[in-house]
Amino acid sequence: MRKTWSVLGLSLSLLLPLNSWAKNHVVVVATGGTIAGAGASASNSATYTAAKVPVQQLINAIPQLKELADVSGVQALQIASESITDKELLSVARQVNSLLKKPDVHGVVITHGTDTLEETAFFLNLVIASDKPIVLVGAMRPATALSADGPLNLYSAVALAASDSARGKGVLVMMNDNIYAARDVSKSINIHTDAFQSQWGALGSVVEGKTYWFRQVSKRFNQQSEFNIENIQGDQLPNVQIVYAATNMSPDAYLAYAKNGAQAIIHAGTGNGSVAAQIVPTLKQLQQQGIQIVRASRVAAGFVLRNAEQPDDQYGWVVAHDLNPQKARILTALALTKSKDAKQLQTMFWEY
Ligand code: DGL
Repeated sequence: MRKTWSVLGLSLSLLLPLNSWAKNHVVVVATGGTIAGAGASASNSATYTAAKVPVQQLINAIPQLKELADVSGVQALQIASESITDKELLSVARQVNSLLKKPDVHGVVITHGTDTLEETAFFLNLVIASDKPIVLVGAMRPATALSADGPLNLYSAVALAASDSARGKGVLVMMNDNIYAARDVSKSINIHTDAFQSQWGALGSVVEGKTYWFRQVSKRFNQQSEFNIENIQGDQLPNVQIVYAATNMSPDAYLAYAKNGAQAIIHAGTGNGSVAAQIVPTLKQLQQQGIQIVRASRVAAGFVLRNAEQPDDQYGWVVAHDLNPQKARILTALALTKSKDAKQLQTMFWEY
């Protein structure tokens, strides 16, 4: 009997202490932005240079990350996100896709400038065929500022990416304690830490490293998507541009984009995607030339109704549904890799 207890005791003592058991491996893919920014002084919360701090320094600045996951870093880019082009977008998507194929990688956190974070998030939501957590995170204040928001945002993003509950939820955006869906989150305030909003609300929240869920996305994403980064060649997507509507509209911008090879134009219309009377003939003519016309809205919330402000069926136009103009541009560019039929494009806007 004594022998049995001693063997049992020895084997139990070999068990690693609870806090040193293997943790999920999360890779932080850094691209730049304010979260990697540096200001001249602690009082500079809005005046700073973005994309300065390297990924390992971001990770080392938060020793508590070790309690959440086994964290490693990759410096994919080091730029302000307003300067991201198709080249950088495709490069980041390819790097994330190959990281997620590694069996030891549980999830990826992407640190990103907030200006175009929603576009990168939505693109990855459409082209990465994996159910592993992909979490984008940014900051509205540089790390050098008083009450910098980056460190806690990054801590929460790593907690989310390391969680099992984040699998199969689509690409997520972690900002200001809230978990948002990539498809409907948008940078809605350009100066405060609660910058990111969704008209349909957050999916959940992360508090003290614990994840709480309250709703799920009802649209197609990741493995349910017909788009896949592995089927996209080169470093350019189809040329899709946006024209922002206001009073005193002229057809010049639409004609210039068409002349320069745009395959589709997103009309960021007033109200419910309205089109000024003096512009309608130009958009009808461009559609007849084979350029897709997508009616979106410059208004932050709501969704564009088909055949309401304009006879879309008659003109062969597409409506962006609840996607803002910048996300409509991303989906249209991908849609054009599959079809140039307005009816098929419209179906994609209903489904993604
Ligand atoms: N230049 C902006 C960008 O990289 C800074 C905004 C930010 O990251 O919060 O998106």
